[in-house]
Amino acid sequence: MPETKRLNFTPENTELAGKILREGGLVAIPTETVYGLAANAFNGEACARIFAAKGRPSDNPLIVHIASLDQWPALVAEVPEAAVRLAEAFWPGPLSIILPKSDKIPDQVSGGLDTVAVRMPSHPAAAAVIRAAGVPLAAPSANLSGSPSPTTAQHVLRDLQGRIDAVLDGGACEVGVESTVISLAGKTPRVLRPGGISVEQLRAVLGEVEVDEAVLHQLAPGQQAVSPGMKYKHYSPKTRIIIVKGSFAAFQKFVSNKKDCAALCFACEGEQLDIPFIEVGREHDSLSQAHRLFDALRRVDELGVSVAYARCPDTDGVGLAVLNRLLRAAAFTVVDLNGAAVIGLTGPTGAGKSTVADILQKKHAFAWIDADQTARSVTEKGSPLLPVLAEHFGADILDEAGALIRSKLAARAFASPEKTALLNQLTHPAVTERIFAQVARLSAAGTKAVLIDAAALYESKIDKLCAFTAVVTASEPVRLRRIMARDGLDEPAARLRMKAQLSAEDYEKNADVIVRNEPPFDVETEAEKIFERYKELTENE
Ligand code: TXA
Ligand code: MG
Repeated sequence: MPETKRLNFTPENTELAGKILREGGLVAIPTETVYGLAANAFNGEACARIFAAKGRPSDNPLIVHIASLDQWPALVAEVPEAAVRLAEAFWPGPLSIILPKSDKIPDQVSGGLDTVAVRMPSHPAAAAVIRAAGVPLAAPSANLSGSPSPTTAQHVLRDLQGRIDAVLDGGACEVGVESTVISLAGKTPRVLRPGGISVEQLRAVLGEVEVDEAVLHQLAPGQQAVSPGMKYKHYSPKTRIIIVKGSFAAFQKFVSNKKDCAALCFACEGEQLDIPFIEVGREHDSLSQAHRLFDALRRVDELGVSVAYARCPDTDGVGLAVLNRLLRAAAFTVVDLNGAAVIGLTGPTGAGKSTVADILQKKHAFAWIDADQTARSVTEKGSPLLPVLAEHFGADILDEAGALIRSKLAARAFASPEKTALLNQLTHPAVTERIFAQVARLSAAGTKAVLIDAAALYESKIDKLCAFTAVVTASEPVRLRRIMARDGLDEPAARLRMKAQLSAEDYEKNADVIVRNEPPFDVETEAEKIFERYKELTENE
């Protein structure tokens, strides 16, 4: 396709956009929520091109946009009374209403479902283009599938230049997050995606309104999403996002001095931090956060860090939509600073991590999670991870009963650095999730601090979820002797095992606290350094 035309919002360009759409083309248009990538909703082929341009999975249905109420009845089987009340209260505006579809809706629009989502946008440019086209317009957000929704024409062009006919530039979108999607196709009205219209506003009109579980929770593998869009990873920058719950003071201490990290924080907070930052609206002002969120998620990659810690938004009003988008951008990774302090404990093999963990457990009632044991537990028989591993590493890594043959997986996975990385990429999220479920249980039971004992703490990036990390070290000859005695290995075997890990220097370089476990140091005194650091972090809160 030739270059994408950028059209200013003028009467002539509105007519031109209408003409392109009538002829089966694709035009990105501004709406009050985000930019939409529009096509004639009655033209299945044109709608199919939307999926190709975005790289969108074809089972994810499109929202149909109308400019007047008289366009609605042709799209749906029937317009029930509850739908009329919603339209009266919130249209034109950021609300999409799902009803059983009419047979005029092509399968490409409904993604094979028997329902269709309709909304009447309030942005004058959107309304004008729909009128100019003379037909309802099917339009998903005008981004490449998986990346943050576009809130400016520049965002659209960055993703879709050369893939669509034109973009109508109407300036920055006011709301900034997509419309609320409510289904009236079931018994009780149900919010499938929170957005510009809040659940509280919907309840004021309809009474009982359910909020779908997928809004704030990750679907279990294999669990069916009511709204297909909820099952895909969304809104993700390349930078890893981690949501941090807690006060600003706790956040400030948590991120302080963290290397290779940035903050997504609220207005006036950034300059109080010692890491790079992007401010996303004002605290307790969800509207201002929604307005800034997607632009911030796009800009975060420019900071050149590997992790961005995001302050956690409130969940009332539009805040629910902000949190919903942020949770997806973060792949549901949340650190809760109101719970137990999480401390990473690592070190080269033979240095004596367990000794140190044991001391802190006895002396200060720190809890202790063995991450290596957790890693084994996620690949136990029946785990949803096993079929995924079999797909990538060969069906014969499972025995006849479906249990993992660990030696076979290890042989394949450690055959090359790429394969090792693939194994980590497939297993680490499940391991991390299980570890943090354990942390949540321990916090609920009143535990003040949890040590995560992981040999590959830094490689697995679990360190990024810890308040700080401690490395236990000892000199090489001492470690060698300990491994040989502990595991009954001869010297070459023990050396081989030591070589498979990070070097002692690399461990120490990453550490916030170094604990020396060999004479002349007293390990009890050394372990106390971890407790001191923990105390510093939790004081004055
Ligand atoms: O604000 C918005 O809604 C923007 C602007 C352009 O209007 N559009 C938008 O579309 O966000 P999209 O395609 O990015 O997101 C539509 C969401 C998806 O999660 C999709 O799965 C869901 O709505 N959806 C659409 N039709 C549905 C249906 N019939 N049943 C269930 N979910 C549906
Ligand atoms: Mg979208």
